[in-house]
Amino acid sequence: MKNKFYIAANWKMNKTLKECSEYMDYFTNLLLEIPESKVIFCPPFSALFTMKSLLEETPYALGAQNLFWEESGAYTGEISAEMLLSCSVTHVIVGHSERRHLFGETDRMVNKRVLKALSSGLIPILCIGETIEQRNNNETLAVLENQLKIGLESVSGEEINKMIFAYEPVWAIGTGERATPDQIAEAHVSVRISITGIKMGNADNIPILYGGSVNSKNVSELLKIKDVNGYLIGGASLNADEFISIIQQTENYIKESE
Ligand code: 13P
Repeated sequence: MKNKFYIAANWKMNKTLKECSEYMDYFTNLLLEIPESKVIFCPPFSALFTMKSLLEETPYALGAQNLFWEESGAYTGEISAEMLLSCSVTHVIVGHSERRHLFGETDRMVNKRVLKALSSGLIPILCIGETIEQRNNNETLAVLENQLKIGLESVSGEEINKMIFAYEPVWAIGTGERATPDQIAEAHVSVRISITGIKMGNADNIPILYGGSVNSKNVSELLKIKDVNGYLIGGASLNADEFISIIQQTENYIKESE
């Protein structure tokens, strides 16, 4: 079976329940047929339960923005895998750069979250990416490799086959300054090589998404880059028209190139 193109919306700390309902009503009325893509909505925790109902009978999947590795207990502010599963969550973002840089998450913590997601049957979307300083020091590929190495410690090759990866250069997130096609292509090839090495097996079918200032104006350029198997989109996914335009351009491009 042909792999789908992944388009994930990371709503970050945005949207009340009312706003989620309005968005999804509008969205599902306009766009339901998406044979070539897998669309995943990652709303804030407060909206997961509502989104579960809103997504019923649609082809869209529900993702969370993080999870904690313990089952339950005195962990104020955290959320468990079981809680996410009870809201019919299937995917979970792990290691987002905002978690790493604003909230001090380390690669070791990211690894624990990946392991917990996998052992609970959730699909982790593991985010990696370099800062502008690291890029300017020519450290990008080494940083990505290291984030993958630690993030995937004790993860089996079979489990890696179930995962999704997202390359999100920190400097391109929410800045409007997207990485160039050459920068993206170089990073994605290198990430695939690293994953192949870590799992000691073929990684050709593992989805590697790009994230960082993707919008309806630049998506056509990104579609042509080999090794980009989808996007993780922040700001542009908050507006339904903008997000629909991204999905439609993707669907059209894939259909035309078949
Ligand atoms: P923007 O699309 O707003 O740059 O955010 C990207 C991102 O962080 C997705 O996880």
